[in-house]
Amino acid sequence: MSNGTGNFTKSKIMQNTKLPHWPDDKKTLWRELQAYYETTQLDINALLSKDILRTEKLSVDTGTLFLDFSKNQVDDRALKLLIDLAGACDLKEKITQMFDGDPVNNTEKRAALHTTLRCPHNADFKSEGANQQQAQVQETLKKMTSFCNAIHSGQHRGYTGKTITDIVNLGVGGSDLGPKMACHALRVFQQPGITTHFVSNIDDTDLGHTLAHINPEKTLFIVASKSFTTQETMRNANSARAWFLASAEQKDICSHFIAVSSNIDRAVTFGIEEDNVFPLWNWVGGRYSLWSSIGLSIALAIGMDNFKELLAGGHEMDAHFSNTPFAQNGPVIMGLLGIVYSNMLNVPTQAIIPYDENLTFFPDYLQQLEMESNGKGVNKNGTPITYQTGQILWGSIGTNSQHSFHQLFHQGKHTCNIDFLLPLSSHYNLGNQHKYLVSNCLAQAQALLKGKPEDEIKQELISQGLDETEACNLAPHKVVPGNKPSTLICYEKMTPRVLGNLIALYEHKVYVQSVIWDINPFDQWGVEYGKQLCDSIEPYLKSDCNTSPKGVDPSTAQIISRYHRLKRKS
Ligand code: F6P
Repeated sequence: MSNGTGNFTKSKIMQNTKLPHWPDDKKTLWRELQAYYETTQLDINALLSKDILRTEKLSVDTGTLFLDFSKNQVDDRALKLLIDLAGACDLKEKITQMFDGDPVNNTEKRAALHTTLRCPHNADFKSEGANQQQAQVQETLKKMTSFCNAIHSGQHRGYTGKTITDIVNLGVGGSDLGPKMACHALRVFQQPGITTHFVSNIDDTDLGHTLAHINPEKTLFIVASKSFTTQETMRNANSARAWFLASAEQKDICSHFIAVSSNIDRAVTFGIEEDNVFPLWNWVGGRYSLWSSIGLSIALAIGMDNFKELLAGGHEMDAHFSNTPFAQNGPVIMGLLGIVYSNMLNVPTQAIIPYDENLTFFPDYLQQLEMESNGKGVNKNGTPITYQTGQILWGSIGTNSQHSFHQLFHQGKHTCNIDFLLPLSSHYNLGNQHKYLVSNCLAQAQALLKGKPEDEIKQELISQGLDETEACNLAPHKVVPGNKPSTLICYEKMTPRVLGNLIALYEHKVYVQSVIWDINPFDQWGVEYGKQLCDSIEPYLKSDCNTSPKGVDPSTAQIISRYHRLKRKS
């Protein structure tokens, strides 16, 4: 972990980590990497100035994205060990297995084929099954296209004949975070006359506030739930339907409620016509589903052509990921650097700082993608693991973040590795604002890297007129240690293609890491446990419940009885 001086002190506990059931070559490389980072303090400034080829060696140009990894805690030796480690984990074969539809989600015996969702329509797969999946995807895209056209042209109208102006996506987790992030990111491509709303929380303030600002005659609700059992979404959908029926009739539901789900029967039971259910399949994980019909809200917001551009961007990154040697492979390098920070340097958090207002919700989206995927405690065989599987991800947009938490980056005792995301041009052209945004992003990365030593500060203060004593007293407060790692990801400006590239980049980074850690990134049993417990607690909150709660701890029990006392009073 960093001691705040820009130097990293490595935890002995990490060194003693047991590495269960790993092949010998993998164990050896892991130990070698640990030993290397234990004994070597990498000075990024020195590495950059000594090796004139460093920026070239540690940059990846995918055509749409430019990834500069050169300000990271890695040198030639470490990079070689990391790439060898990836080889020892059979990463190449594991990538092929995922793309080929092998059941990489072993606990649920499922494939993870989000990559098929963004394949061109004429892609040819090896297996008959994969070709069938591809046909289902293309059929659904056609259905989405004609629905979007009907809404945008005004052919599909509300029950009083008015055109649809408001789309409300009712979903949570993967059925909300991706579409919400993408609709915000691509606002500049917004279809005229359409406003998109996202309601996810069970807190009725979320739905209540949205309903207060829309007209049932002009609103389309999308009930987006892969399982069609998620309680937040089901309860929001029930309330939305009741609100709608307060002014309309049952027969009008078909013009105003559609569903996206793999559970067509449940959607029909809810009251949605079968024809109005857009399918998705169990080989698409929730947090990987924005490419499927879960992305219908995106397509309605930006138009189907732009949605297809988003898919093309994802596919572009898929091609880069599967065809590029590891040393030049963006998601592979990103994933391996994450191994350095998580497991070799014991850095607990990573920050995502987009200098792009369009990416306001990108850190929220990545939190589910990374932490729901790789927050695991056992390996693929179910054996407990003793090493960290990932970092806590957080972040916010620059430059706002500079005026909030960057002080801790520069002088605090914590270190976290940062991904800066930077568009090199803007959709707008307002004075010099974009230039200043770019300067700020570059300056932050530079300040973190270079730091500012005490001597230089003292001289500066003296030249500003302070006497020697004053300069000596003030200088330590102004010292910036430097040698803090960051990655810079730049692109021309935010477009559907760029966004598709970016999302797929992080998806594949997560997969790379899961392979190194030997974990399943496609299940989420911990979340399912929380849902189960919630279902068992709710009956005890009913007003007519007189039994004391069974199976709950005393702390929870006391809150339940306090809840009842308060309810009786009010
Ligand atoms: O948060 C748990 C989870 O199962 C996610 O993986 C998923 O994205 C979310 O719930 C919503 O699930 P569904 O689309 O089935 O409503």
